[in-house]
Amino acid sequence: QPKAIHNICFVGAGYVGGPTAALMALNNPQIKVTVVDKDDRRIRRWNSRHLPIYEPGLAEITRIARDGLEGAKDGNAAPRKPNLFFSTDVSRCIGEADIVVIAVNTPTKMRGAGKGSATDMTSFEAVAGEVVRHARDGTIIVEKSTVPCRTAEMIEQMIKLQRPGVHFEILSNPEFLAAGTAVQDLLSPDRVIIGSSPSVQGRIAAETLASAYTAWVDRSRIITVNVWSSELAKLVANSMLAQRLSSINSISAICEATGAEINEVSAAIGADVRLGNKFLRAGIGFGGSCFKKDVLSLVYLAESLGLAEVSDYWRSVVEMNEYQRNRFSTRVIRRLNSTLVTKKLTILGYAFKKNTSDTRETPALEIIKTLLDENPREIAIYDPCVNRSVIESEIREMQSYGPLLKEDGGCISVYSDPYEATSGTNAILIITDFDEFKTKPVAPPSPSAAGPAAGVTDALRKRFVAEPDCAADCPDCHTGTGYIDPSAEYKPKQQLDWKRIASHIKSPGWVFDGRCILDVQEMKKLGIRVESIGSAG
Ligand code: UGA
Repeated sequence: QPKAIHNICFVGAGYVGGPTAALMALNNPQIKVTVVDKDDRRIRRWNSRHLPIYEPGLAEITRIARDGLEGAKDGNAAPRKPNLFFSTDVSRCIGEADIVVIAVNTPTKMRGAGKGSATDMTSFEAVAGEVVRHARDGTIIVEKSTVPCRTAEMIEQMIKLQRPGVHFEILSNPEFLAAGTAVQDLLSPDRVIIGSSPSVQGRIAAETLASAYTAWVDRSRIITVNVWSSELAKLVANSMLAQRLSSINSISAICEATGAEINEVSAAIGADVRLGNKFLRAGIGFGGSCFKKDVLSLVYLAESLGLAEVSDYWRSVVEMNEYQRNRFSTRVIRRLNSTLVTKKLTILGYAFKKNTSDTRETPALEIIKTLLDENPREIAIYDPCVNRSVIESEIREMQSYGPLLKEDGGCISVYSDPYEATSGTNAILIITDFDEFKTKPVAPPSPSAAGPAAGVTDALRKRFVAEPDCAADCPDCHTGTGYIDPSAEYKPKQQLDWKRIASHIKSPGWVFDGRCILDVQEMKKLGIRVESIGSAG
């Protein structure tokens, strides 16, 4: 029998904690959901009009639950009572919760034992310590962060040492949302995994957490397993997705050398239902904060278990990814006669994938570094979603390369207009698969400010009351840089006018399509020479 839940506290107001808490609150109006973080600025942003992260549909959902906007102006429904809160009062909120969900960053360790592959548990351990200190007896502790297998044991040890005699159940409930589709993924997940101890108390805790999900997820999609399986399943899911991309990317190299077309090969093999047609788009290699880190965490786990062959196998997934990215840069440089000194190159897309302002582990940065070694006249960058100041601050952080931005005496300029960025360029590199860059018209953007969110949010939008934007000098929305993207809401732009671009790029009109999104024949008609990944060109 699940216990009643009145109060859930998420620790960590980032890409996972924020959206998951918002969906949990939206679907469970009777539960008070609080997201806590010690970063005061991040919390202010979550409490402001402009959220610190962009996800299609998230602004509406957050504001419905946070501000109680649902039905407020449709004349017949009573305004909804706010049940989503954001706070910096970490210990108090932990102390009030029935369930505490830990959703903090677990990046790769950059120094010490296991550096470069083991998971850096500094933030997770600190938060787990606070939870153990402040939570009430009987609280359910949930690992939402991606953690190494057997992390729950570490928390158990902390409890034994710091709060002997007090009982907490520890659950693993990994997140499977992807950047750019977080709301959609949360609204209709393929599955929800809940790992618990096999004891009766463990199972009751698992059912209690499950009851918060069954408000909108069918019970048949909730899989309860043992806690170690759940922790490992998350690492394996990401590693197998990454492995699939490295597999198809390795085949793209064969295509380029043989005349086979990678898009045709993908379509042909994806039609086999055993393989499926998802995650078969070849490209410049995967980016993002999760794949590389999780594969490396699996590598480290195998290594520490003495399974050298297993760890070598998974390490090759990351190596193939790097090979793919380097192959692309090398191809660009070779086609430009192996000299960039007098040339301008334009990077279209800086985010690691479309519909997100997330730039963590973006392949763009590594490609830019390789181009910089060739001392180009200019590298122009344009991204329709990532705020200019974010890109500029990331470029400035590459201090070992000396001053890089044009205004500091370097060769890199970040543009907010794609036509200025491509004007007079010798080569365009498509790095992100934004729909705006595609040759073929795509579905018109949704009228909502939330952009191309899936239909599932349309009903919510109807109930959403639009409010005026905050002032341009709002300190919460328009200043600062770093992990949290200070960009305002992304509004999908018009399709790129390739005809216009063709008229102002330098002959012979090179476009290097790192995402296989351009129609080569269409572009040829415009006088543009396209070289695509996985195609002999
Ligand atoms: C990934 C997983 O897909 C999520 O299920 C998981 O929850 C998440 O990591 C996480 O652990 O937090 P994410 O990294 O946000 O999500 O984005 P993906 O859609 O998986 O894309 C990852 C990279 O692979 C991107 O650079 C994308 O452009 C690339 N990709 C994806 C391809 O090159 N080809 C494809 O066919 C698909």
